[in-house]
Amino acid sequence: MVIVADRLRSSLMVPGPTRPSGRDGPEPETICPVNEYRVVTAAQRPDLIDAMRALGASPWPDFLLGHDEVVNNLWDRLYELLPAYQFALADRDRDDLIAVGNCLPIRWDGDSSTLPPGGIDAVLEDGVATLEAAAAPTAVSALMIVVEPDQLGRGLSRACIEVMRGIAADHGLASLVAPVRPTEKHRYPLIPMERYASWRRADGSLFDPWLRTHERVGGFGAGVAPASMTVRGTVAEWEAWTGLRMPGTGSYVVPGALVPVEIDRERDVGLYVEPNYWMVHRTG
Ligand SMILES: CC(C)(COP(=O)(O)OP(=O)(O)OC[C@H]1O[C@@H](n2cnc3c(N)ncnc32)[C@H](O)[C@@H]1OP(=O)(O)O)[C@@H](O)C(=O)NCCC(=O)NCCS
Repeated sequence: MVIVADRLRSSLMVPGPTRPSGRDGPEPETICPVNEYRVVTAAQRPDLIDAMRALGASPWPDFLLGHDEVVNNLWDRLYELLPAYQFALADRDRDDLIAVGNCLPIRWDGDSSTLPPGGIDAVLEDGVATLEAAAAPTAVSALMIVVEPDQLGRGLSRACIEVMRGIAADHGLASLVAPVRPTEKHRYPLIPMERYASWRRADGSLFDPWLRTHERVGGFGAGVAPASMTVRGTVAEWEAWTGLRMPGTGSYVVPGALVPVEIDRERDVGLYVEPNYWMVHRTG
């Protein structure tokens, strides 16, 4: 942890990202005053943890926020147990956060075929268990990156992936793995994740913007995590979370969901099992 803190401290001033090429509009400086940012970890700035939590919680649909049991049990402990792995990009001059990232050390043998089907839930459980057993981790897993809405489209997510890769490298860990939640998949909820993740544009780059970003910074696809997050609720809860009436048993397409929600009215249960897609980055 000391190594990471030192490394990040020595690179506190990082040149700001440039706007992605080929996009229309004015130059970045006229769009956003943030030209440079600082990388701050929760270990260095515990006073910013509440702001990190707030930004991290901001973009998710109601049904996803606070309703996955594993996430509920373990997420909040990340800041207390592994503060050097929780970080933010902050405005150069003020403490305004422009992005937040969460990751944790896990045990993984480096074989793509052994990445856990349980995605986010699995790495959260493994990471905390690894720590509690004082076992040696072998990789870092990304959990989440959120960019502040006014700062979207400026390459900050790429910077966050690089920070995570740096954290892994500084701990001597050879890989950063990421159970990625593809940002446009919610628009194609009936397309299987495996097929969606393989779609490419005419220029050969991946169709999904978030998978594309991972690949562009050197990541490679390593298959579907079919049950990365699980949300179970009563039908009334699902109706409240989604604002959608669910009068009968069946599969429902819900805004923000990557696959349909399965509603069973007779048993009064709604089940959402979210698939994510593994991307792997080598840190060496
Ligand atoms: C996913 C996220 C972190 C990406 O952040 P970002 O800073 O906008 O990413 P970038 O600027 O690097 O852009 C990445 C790609 O997405 C594209 N993109 C950006 N905004 C977009 C939009 N609104 N619609 C479609 N594509 C978009 C960019 O053009 C870029 O692709 P390109 O370089 O091939 O043109 C951000 O959208 C976010 O915080 N989303 C909410 C939380 C989330 O879904 N996080 C990921 C799962 S944990």
